[in-house]
Amino acid sequence: MKLPELKIDRFVARVPIIQGGMAIRISTGALAGAVAAAGGIGVIGASGMSFSELSSEIKIARERANGGIIGINIMFAAREFWGIVKTAIQEKIDLVFTGAGFSRDIFKFGQDNNTPIVPIVSSARLAKTSDRCGAAAIVVEGKEAGGHLGTDRPIREILPEIRKATNLPVIAAGGITSGQDIVEMFKLGANGVQIATRFVLAEECNAAPEYKKRYQEAKKEDIVTISSPVGMPGRAIKTPFVEKILSKSAPKPAGCDFCLKNCSLEYCIIQALINSQQGNIDNGIVFSGENVWKIKDRSIKPAAEIVKELVKETEEIPA
Ligand SMILES: Cc1cc2nc3c(=O)[nH]c(=O)nc-3n(C[C@H](O)[C@H](O)[C@H](O)COP(=O)(O)O)c2cc1C
Repeated sequence: MKLPELKIDRFVARVPIIQGGMAIRISTGALAGAVAAAGGIGVIGASGMSFSELSSEIKIARERANGGIIGINIMFAAREFWGIVKTAIQEKIDLVFTGAGFSRDIFKFGQDNNTPIVPIVSSARLAKTSDRCGAAAIVVEGKEAGGHLGTDRPIREILPEIRKATNLPVIAAGGITSGQDIVEMFKLGANGVQIATRFVLAEECNAAPEYKKRYQEAKKEDIVTISSPVGMPGRAIKTPFVEKILSKSAPKPAGCDFCLKNCSLEYCIIQALINSQQGNIDNGIVFSGENVWKIKDRSIKPAAEIVKELVKETEEIPA
C-alpha cells in the first residue's frame, strides 16, 4: 500500500507517521528533529520541562528537522499547561498535541495564535466536541498505547467510530509496530498513525541505555497497567518500583512541587519517570505500549531508519 501524505491544517507531512510525544525527557528535540527530517512529524514531550528547557529543545529540533514538521505534546493535567503552550507558540512550534485531560479553551487560543491544536482522545464524544471547538486533527488512542490511558477499548474498535464522527484528519495510535498494523489503520479510516514505543529504540531517543534495554528484553507478560496519581491508569513495563505500585506499597512522595493540577499523592510519578529516564530502573517507571514485545527488530538504530523500515513494510503489502 502506497502511503499518502498527512495534511494537518497548512502542514503536509510526506510520511503520515507522527512520533508520539513522550514525557519525561524521553522524546526531546533530537528525536523530534530526526523524525521530522525523515518526513514524519516529530513531537517533543514537553510535560515536566521548564519553559527555558522547552525553548532550547524546540531550537534543537528545528536545527535537525531540515524544514520538517515539529510539535510539542503537553498533558492538560500538568499545572504549567498554559505556560508550556505559550512558550511553544512563542518559539513558533508547528503543532500542539494535548493529552491526559481535555481543555475546550485551547482550541480558540491556538486559532488566535495561528497554531493548529491536535487533541488526543479515546471516544467519539470527545472527538466531536474537539471538532466543534476547532481542532485541526484528532489523534485517537486505544488501550494499547503507552503512558496514561483514556480507555480500556482497543484501537481497532474505537477508530471506525471516530472516523464516522468527524471529517477532520484522524490519526490512529496505540500498539502500532509494523507495516501490517499501519495498513489496517488506514483500512479502518485513519489518515495517519502515531507511534511512540517503536521510537524509544531510536539512537536519538533520550532514554538511558538501561531503559532501552528493558524495551529490548520485555516479554508479553511484563507489560502491566498501573494506577497513576494523575487519576488515570498507565501502561508500563514491570520494574521493582512498578511491582510496589501493583502491591500498593510504593513510597509516598518525599517532597512535592505540585507539578500536577490534581495528584492523589499515591507516589511521585515525576520522580519515578525521571529515575527510569536516567537509568535508575529499579526505582522508576518505564512507560511502554502494550506491543513492545512484537517489535521485530529491537536493535538501536537511527530514527530515520525506523521510519524508512515502517514505510517499506507498508508499501510491500498489496493495497
Ligand atoms: C514512554 C512513553 C511516554 C509517553 N508520554 C506521553 C505524554 O507525555 N503525553 C501523551 O499524550 N502521550 C504519551 N505517551 C503516549 C504516546 O504519545 C503514544 O500516543 C502511544 O504510546 C502510542 O502507542 P505506542 O507506544 O504503542 O506506539 C507516551 C508513551 C510512551 C511509550
